[in-house]
Amino acid sequence: MSGHSTYVPKSALGRWFESRLPIIGFIHSSLVVFPNPRNLNYYWTFGGILAFMLVSQILTGVVLSMLAAWTVAAVLLQWV
Ligand code: HEM
Repeated sequence: MSGHSTYVPKSALGRWFESRLPIIGFIHSSLVVFPNPRNLNYYWTFGGILAFMLVSQILTGVVLSMLAAWTVAAVLLQWV
């Protein structure tokens, strides 16, 4: 975040809320008016999204393989 937020809500209710919980100002200063290089756009989030998908695949794969191992054991044990 680049210093204090300059966001001022238009409605009185918005100002009342913002003075108590400045979350809209935080989002505004982080995502709307945050100074960044002109070429750095939202396409640069794709690397992070890919990393998140890779971690999700690994975690769900571990869970699924544990369930599959349990199922194979159950099928084998019914003959014993
Ligand atoms: C599982 C696959 C991949 C993951 C998790 C991954 C992750 C990332 C991350 C986190 C960044 C930095 C943030 C960004 O620029 O988005 C990045 C940048 C980059 N990645 Fe990947 N990447 C993957 C595959 C690839 C592939 C297949 C290529 C090219 C064939 C590639 C080429 C690049 C390049 C050139 C950059 C630098 C972008 C720039 O700053 O100009 N990545 N990657």
